[in-house]
Amino acid sequence: KRPIIIDTDPGIDDALAIAIALYSNELDVKLITTVAGNVGIDKTTYNALRLLKFFQKENVPVAVGADRPLIRSYEDASSVHGKSGMEGYDFEPPTQIPIEENAVNAMRRVIMESKEAITIVAIGPLTNIALLLKIYPEVKKNIKEVVMMGGSASRGNMGVMSEYNVGVDPEAAYILFHSGLEIAMVGLDVGFKALVFPEDSEAIRTMNKTGEMAYCLFKKYRGGSFNTGLKIYDSTALAYLLAPQIYEIVETYVDVELAGSMTAGCTLVDLKGYLKQPHNAKVCIDINQEKFREWFKESIRKCI
Ligand code: BDR
Ligand code: CA
Repeated sequence: KRPIIIDTDPGIDDALAIAIALYSNELDVKLITTVAGNVGIDKTTYNALRLLKFFQKENVPVAVGADRPLIRSYEDASSVHGKSGMEGYDFEPPTQIPIEENAVNAMRRVIMESKEAITIVAIGPLTNIALLLKIYPEVKKNIKEVVMMGGSASRGNMGVMSEYNVGVDPEAAYILFHSGLEIAMVGLDVGFKALVFPEDSEAIRTMNKTGEMAYCLFKKYRGGSFNTGLKIYDSTALAYLLAPQIYEIVETYVDVELAGSMTAGCTLVDLKGYLKQPHNAKVCIDINQEKFREWFKESIRKCI
């Protein structure tokens, strides 16, 4: 099984991505680290713990990460995910507590101790990852790849040009893209098209306990509408790992705008090579929607 660390800010779409990872036969979730994003750090951590209780996976350690972006002031996304970050389902309170180590130290330890190089699945703002790479650059040699949901080669969902996970902490994303690591960017070009439609959500509801939970969260989620399709962004990062054939992927150079007064947090996906830089990322630029829908339903079916 491929060892992974999930860095997350649950978040309704995070919850489903975590479900898919925990029940995949191909992935081994070694650690979950939390970050301030969709809601504040106390809530994202509580949500991660509630999810592990729900999934009966309380053996997976949770470490608490950054409570705000590196430099900029923090903007949450509770207008999309609700006040708690996972509005719509009545989860049991967790019994597990976070480990004592903070997210950065825990990531370092898990990466350095692992026999097989670790894949980091980043589905929140990239603050923890940036701190990890700056404080402990030695981890790079045992990181296989960072698969991140975030960025866009087209338009944004936080600002005109910025996607939320990059837009909320652009400096952190900049550090990642300039780290020299293998990076897969699964951004809005596919996130806007990875949709759950009413007929899917109905099928999902009756699949199992996870499906029913997902359906309840969907009802409250403001990431689109049931009729035009719900955008379940974070699962697209898991699809990259588990079903990459769903995507059209290009190797290219990606940079992050930091200075623009209206475009900070925009990812420049240099498909035409204007910037004359070597490739630093594999970018998913298109998706087979039908295949994604099938893959998503099959993945939820594997859960409890
Ligand atoms: C990303 O932002 C968050 O709101 C979602 O959880 C996802 O990670 C989409 O832009
Ligand atoms: Ca997220």
